[in-house]
Amino acid sequence: MLMSGLIGDPVAHSLSPSMHNAAFQALGIDARYELWHTVTADLLLRIASLRAEGILGANVTVPHKGTVIPLLDDVSETARRIGSVNTVIARDGRLLGDNTDAYGFGRALGDVTGGTMPRSALVVGAGGASRAVLTSLQEAGVADIWLVNRTPERAEALAAELTEPGCPAIVAEPWSRLEEVASSARLVVNATSIGWHGDDLPFGAGIIDALPRDAVVMDLTYRLTAMLRLASGRGLRTVDGLPMLIHQGGRAFELWTGQNAPIEAMTQAVREAYAARA
Ligand code: ATR
Repeated sequence: MLMSGLIGDPVAHSLSPSMHNAAFQALGIDARYELWHTVTADLLLRIASLRAEGILGANVTVPHKGTVIPLLDDVSETARRIGSVNTVIARDGRLLGDNTDAYGFGRALGDVTGGTMPRSALVVGAGGASRAVLTSLQEAGVADIWLVNRTPERAEALAAELTEPGCPAIVAEPWSRLEEVASSARLVVNATSIGWHGDDLPFGAGIIDALPRDAVVMDLTYRLTAMLRLASGRGLRTVDGLPMLIHQGGRAFELWTGQNAPIEAMTQAVREAYAARA
């Protein structure tokens, strides 16, 4: 039996076991995905254990996505840019770190737009999730990328860090310019932690009204948030965070197994597990 699992603290809430075990089953692969709860003091031992026979790799979540990097043999360019690893691949005795969140975001967006990337995007929030979104937008060649954050210094620092020669610039804008920026944004992404609980909007309802009619509104939370309800009520296309979760998982599955991920089976399993949890 082959194994993979989720390394983090906490991990109990994760939808990944349902998703990956459904994928293994759909393809008839004799493998199991487990929750590998790991406190910081045990991270070194946990990573070493991935070198054992029969381990496909692992997913990594908070608080280890950055600190795991020096423990690996190599790290992909994307993971290095984002500064975090969410997937470890065990291959030929070596441990490779990758980040499939940016890929997952791009695929989730492509599912809504029919594959075309919007030419402009407004990202709200400058934490860990935002880094993967911004990197994905840059890799897709989105021409105008604006970043707004409650604490403007964090947006400015992140924009400066990710803006490099040869890739689209990220422009940090003050909160006071949100509505003006929104009026030319073909995509708005809520990458703040607002929306995981309760009915708060990440910004005033006027921002949704200001968006062009063909804009896509994306929330990285798994819920039908107040922002998504408002946007779909205005006739805008919307997407929650579950497709991104599924596609980042699909990419990890492909890296572990070398087989195409059974996205439909994974989607069904995630939606069922999420509904059961809620
Ligand atoms: P994650 O890894 O999920 O991105 P994070 O790194 O804690 O989480 O980042 C949370 C983001 O949500 C930050 O951009 C944060 O803004 P600050 O940098 O100003 O803290 C944003 N956020 C959290 N609560 C918020 C609130 N009440 N209003 C606006 N933004 C908020």
